[in-house]
Amino acid sequence: MKRIAVLTSGGDSPGMNAAVRAIAKLAASKGVQVMGVLEGYEGLMDGNLRELTKTLSDGTVSVDVEVDAAGNQGGTMIGSARSLRFREAEGRAQASLQMAKHGLEGLIVIGGNGSLTGAHIFTRESGLPVVGVPGSIDNDIGCTALALGVDTALNTIVQACDHIADTARAHRRAFVVEVMGRDCGYLAMASAIAVAADAVLIREQGKSEEQLVTDLSNVIRNGYARGKRRILTIKAEGVQVPCTRLVRLTEEAMRADMPNVEIRATVLGHVVRGGNPSYQDRAIAGRLGFAAVASLLRGSSDTMVGWLPPVSGGTPTEDSSVQLFGLEQVLVETAAVIDGTSPVTQRRLALMQKASGVLAL
Ligand code: F6P
Repeated sequence: MKRIAVLTSGGDSPGMNAAVRAIAKLAASKGVQVMGVLEGYEGLMDGNLRELTKTLSDGTVSVDVEVDAAGNQGGTMIGSARSLRFREAEGRAQASLQMAKHGLEGLIVIGGNGSLTGAHIFTRESGLPVVGVPGSIDNDIGCTALALGVDTALNTIVQACDHIADTARAHRRAFVVEVMGRDCGYLAMASAIAVAADAVLIREQGKSEEQLVTDLSNVIRNGYARGKRRILTIKAEGVQVPCTRLVRLTEEAMRADMPNVEIRATVLGHVVRGGNPSYQDRAIAGRLGFAAVASLLRGSSDTMVGWLPPVSGGTPTEDSSVQLFGLEQVLVETAAVIDGTSPVTQRRLALMQKASGVLAL
């Protein structure tokens, strides 16, 4: 291969730029040019590209200086989109034509569930080689212990909760903090342990509105009975009851026995998705990006590079923490993570169940 493309798709995540940089660097070292596709699959269908490498007069390939610098920044320098057009066969056929027109012999897709689903269908239909890199703060992708952005998002949540704890303790208040995670409560669970929250509310627990209100009221009552000055509950976005409604209903439910209870709601939202990538996200991005190019050049396709502690099961790459999985398997496991049937989700829930009695102490 002499010319490949990379795109970032779906919700951006810190570390995407670092992965793009690693991809450009490794490809350049092999004399392969890299084109960045702008705005995800939208740009692929429209042939909207920019050079991420340049060929010098001596024939060697070098990385664009902006690509090098952006590697340390959040967001994605090549833009992202959630494309509806690419879900249609016509859009994908258009993308395939653009790849041929621009001499692109392979594609690397950095993104989450929807983006990797698109990659799987595209490579099957077009016959063009595609390798995926998991990127989503939600950590809901199968066959990888971490996706790009998860660590940075957790660090942001932890910092925000520390700030909230200061003001909560000053006023002896209870807080409900909502974090992103539409289908998967990983960010809520992992951050709750790290900040020693009093409780976690996630979609996977399947609680009704009434149960949520009862549980939250009890957590707050018990916390105050223990003399706490800060009572913190982390709620995942996937829990359908909006934060402000939950707070209002809980205050109402507690009016009889604690008429002066003060509960505040903070929705962290997109704050959690931005910011410069942490050390861990940069390191993982570098190693996954490296492995993605190496795999593509070796002829791999319809696959994703996953970040895992060195265990057996996948096809080993030159990096003991990176393994290659078929996209079909990745997508099946992702669906199971989201619908709760995956052993990964079951383990997380069982752990959370055990932790719930301890967290409130
Ligand atoms: O990328 C995943 C995610 O951040 C989810 O946690 C969240 O529900 C969703 O994206 C928000 O998407 P958008 O930025 O398109 O509103």
